[in-house]
Amino acid sequence: NSVAAVVPAAGVGQRMQSAQPKQYLRLAGTTVLEQTVKALLQDPRIAHIFIATSATDPYFPQLSFSSERPITRVDGGATRAASVQSGVAAAHAAGFEWVAVHDAARPCLTAQELTTVLDEALLDEVGALLALPVADTLKREGANSRVQTSVARDHLWQALTPQVFRSEALLKGFAQLGVDNPQLTDEASVLEALGQQPKLVQGRRSNIKITLPGDEQLAQLWLTENHR
Ligand code: CTP
Ligand code: MG
Repeated sequence: NSVAAVVPAAGVGQRMQSAQPKQYLRLAGTTVLEQTVKALLQDPRIAHIFIATSATDPYFPQLSFSSERPITRVDGGATRAASVQSGVAAAHAAGFEWVAVHDAARPCLTAQELTTVLDEALLDEVGALLALPVADTLKREGANSRVQTSVARDHLWQALTPQVFRSEALLKGFAQLGVDNPQLTDEASVLEALGQQPKLVQGRRSNIKITLPGDEQLAQLWLTENHR
């Protein structure tokens, strides 16, 4: 049961404020994106990796991936959803029924997380996503930075990636909803908009998305801990 990985890597990393987009920062001897690809190759069911980058990206051609499994670059778009659509369309054209969409900025994915989310998704009607039960107390803001109310955290999860769905369902959703739709911040939300209920699979706290300055040090720590 082979699966294509789709890696959106066409963002500019505005919040990170680094010289290059964060997916090209140095991390444990290589780059964030190379570490992410290495993490995805840990499961033999990942047969092909489609990476969406900006068409004018000068950094991607300098990377080297040592893999017998094919790695294909596709043009990303103006939103994460547009970049994902581009990769999923290429995977679908290559004959993949299932895709595992994984952020370029999440290099600390473990083999166990990847294997579990693939196991669960491929047995499911709809598909599955990694997620983390919310650990902190949540507050809803009212006026003037005052707490309006606390929000019970039971049954609340934080969505992570990989998110594993049928390529056809994602393409149908993107076509119906539009890749500029601000509600489509992950793939599960595409399926939800189609009336489906994706399966939640518990991931790990180490599966951080490098987003803000300092996150790269945290990722470095996880990777050198050899926790994969
Ligand atoms: N992404 C993409 N195409 C876009 C926007 C984002 O492929 N048009 C990718 C990013 O490269 C990243 C992932 O989606 O791997 C998650 O997005 P995010 O963390 O928001 O990255 P950026 O958009 O690059 O960062 P920022 O929002 O701070 O600018
Ligand atoms: Mg962004």
